[in-house]
Amino acid sequence: MKAIVIEEFGGTDKLLEQNVPEPKIDANQVLIKLYATSVNPVDTKIREGAMRDAARPFPLILGGDVAGIVKEVGDNVSRFKPRDPVFARPRVFGTYAQYVAVDADVVAKKPDNLSYEEAAAVPLAGQTAWQALVDHGKVKEGDKVLIHAGAGGVGSMAIQIAKYLGAEVASTASGKNEELLKTLGVDRFINYEEEDFSEVLSDYDMVLDTMGGDIQHKSFKVLKPGGHLVSVLEKPDEHLAKDLGIHTAHFMMEPKGDQLEKLAELANQGKLKPIIDSTYWLNEQGVRDAHKKSETHHAVGKIVIRAK
Ligand SMILES: NC(=O)c1ccc[n+]([C@@H]2O[C@H](COP(=O)([O-])OP(=O)(O)OC[C@H]3O[C@@H](n4cnc5c(N)ncnc54)[C@H](OP(=O)(O)O)[C@@H]3O)[C@@H](O)[C@H]2O)c1
Repeated sequence: MKAIVIEEFGGTDKLLEQNVPEPKIDANQVLIKLYATSVNPVDTKIREGAMRDAARPFPLILGGDVAGIVKEVGDNVSRFKPRDPVFARPRVFGTYAQYVAVDADVVAKKPDNLSYEEAAAVPLAGQTAWQALVDHGKVKEGDKVLIHAGAGGVGSMAIQIAKYLGAEVASTASGKNEELLKTLGVDRFINYEEEDFSEVLSDYDMVLDTMGGDIQHKSFKVLKPGGHLVSVLEKPDEHLAKDLGIHTAHFMMEPKGDQLEKLAELANQGKLKPIIDSTYWLNEQGVRDAHKKSETHHAVGKIVIRAK
């Protein structure tokens, strides 16, 4: 099968199209014929060699989202059958390929009202947002929630999920994304080029930090005692958290089938609609261009790669 692999860490020129063996599934897996995948910033970080713990031996296939149809099911799998439309964030990266073997327990049926490209935008970013808000942030109806980088892949999902949970949502982005974020449901838009969020927000219940550094540090200031600072990037300062009475969390998302089914339900109800920045083809040039776009750090929503 065709796959886009790296043979060594480095720039986008290290992404190469190769013929590799089709994956073999075990009894608890399904083989998915890939129609679309997407780029997440972790892909470019792994490509550069910044996360060697997450890397497997070369040639390494990157990619953490798959949408497509089931080609084969393992002996123990009864929830899916060949030709079912599905999507997933596999436990093991490797979706820049024509076929992907995925543990069936993290696969869900593709929402009927999303295209394959839209469905491929959801699993990694959507489950990250869900786990940040629900599992770690304990967001409930009426909570005040600040979502950093609301125009990004995670942020644009998080805004919609936070609104579904009944939260009052503030979010940061550059001025060009104001209209989009308001359409997604943001109650208080903050143009980070003109306003300092930490000077204008206070008494928040939860902050979703997708930026780290100084932005994370200043986020403590907007939280009320007992509030939650949840980062998908780096561990918040424990001493400061203790002094201020703030709960903190830093986590790596884990694929969970029941959460993906919940996201599919929200999509089917029209409550979760992925924002697509751009779409590229699954070939060497397409994936290189998609990575370059991601590395601008200013994509609006998700960058999708289509195979069909
Ligand atoms: N721990 C985990 O499991 C996990 C999971 C997923 C993602 N992550 C990490 O979370 C981060 C975000 O991921 P993502 O997929 O959302 O990234 P992304 O889609 O590449 O984020 C791009 C967005 O960031 C916004 N942005 C850039 N600078 C900003 C600033 N100073 N303030 C506010 N917004 C700003 C841009 O909006 P403007 O163009 O308007 O500036 C753009 O829309 C990445 O570092 C990623 O690796 C971690």
